[in-house]
Amino acid sequence: MAAGRVALVTGAAHGIGLAIAARLAAEGWRVVIADRAAARPDFPARYVQADVSDEAAVAALVSGVRDTEGRLDALVCNAGFMIRKPIRELSLAEWQSVLGTNLTSTFLLVRAAEDLLRAARGAVVTIASTRAHQSEPDTESYSASKGGLLALNHALAISLGPDVRVNCVSPGWIDVAGEALRPEDHAQHPVGRVGRPDDVAALVSWLVGPESSFVTGSEFVTDGGMTRKMIYAA
Ligand SMILES: NC(=O)c1ccc[n+]([C@@H]2O[C@H](COP(=O)([O-])OP(=O)(O)OC[C@H]3O[C@@H](n4cnc5c(N)ncnc54)[C@H](O)[C@@H]3O)[C@@H](O)[C@H]2O)c1
Repeated sequence: MAAGRVALVTGAAHGIGLAIAARLAAEGWRVVIADRAAARPDFPARYVQADVSDEAAVAALVSGVRDTEGRLDALVCNAGFMIRKPIRELSLAEWQSVLGTNLTSTFLLVRAAEDLLRAARGAVVTIASTRAHQSEPDTESYSASKGGLLALNHALAISLGPDVRVNCVSPGWIDVAGEALRPEDHAQHPVGRVGRPDDVAALVSWLVGPESSFVTGSEFVTDGGMTRKMIYAA
């Protein structure tokens, strides 16, 4: 159990972030969830409405943790979204909004929380994507943001060590919306199924816990093996 330890999870009103927050709460963490959308968690957690791409909002969020919880042992930078549009139609504002939430927010959060994380000898986990390594058409801003996170991950691990460990999880296809999944959706994964938010939460739990104390600067892919599968056209 993680009694007394404090975790801040962004984008935790829904999906993967919600599962991470719920798992950490069940393990005894004091959990703070930040999201720009409203959240009503059915587990013990303090909810803060915040747009993590906004510098002032992040400053207020972290100073709230400093004042209310008094420490920060784990920061999970999970908030993210995708715009899928042909590049000729993608505005600069849209590009910047994706980079702002998916990449710049991690810079803002770690910068604001560095002293708390160092004092707690804490851990940071960022949620990237297998799309940092491979792409479908019309996903430039998302792929670039996730690729940037991989580089930021190792940069932070080097700058913040040995006080703070920094790791990155790259999920593959995780069903967060209760999609109507077809048998072939499951079958294309070597493990035989599409991913679930709990698959990511389990890995994050280990990365913020004591058993991963020799691990930093690393990327962990959880994708049911999909990106390891070689495909030839019929
Ligand atoms: N679901 C997948 O298949 C998948 C795969 C790879 C990576 N990811 C990544 O996992 C993370 C979570 O994705 P998800 O599928 O759970 O998405 P989701 O849409 O279910 O949840 C994302 C949450 O982030 C919040 N959010 C978005 N922008 C925000 C901002 N600027 N400030 C605060 N909150 C914000 C949303 O309100 C939402 O509650 C994202 O970074 C996403 O890129 C998801």
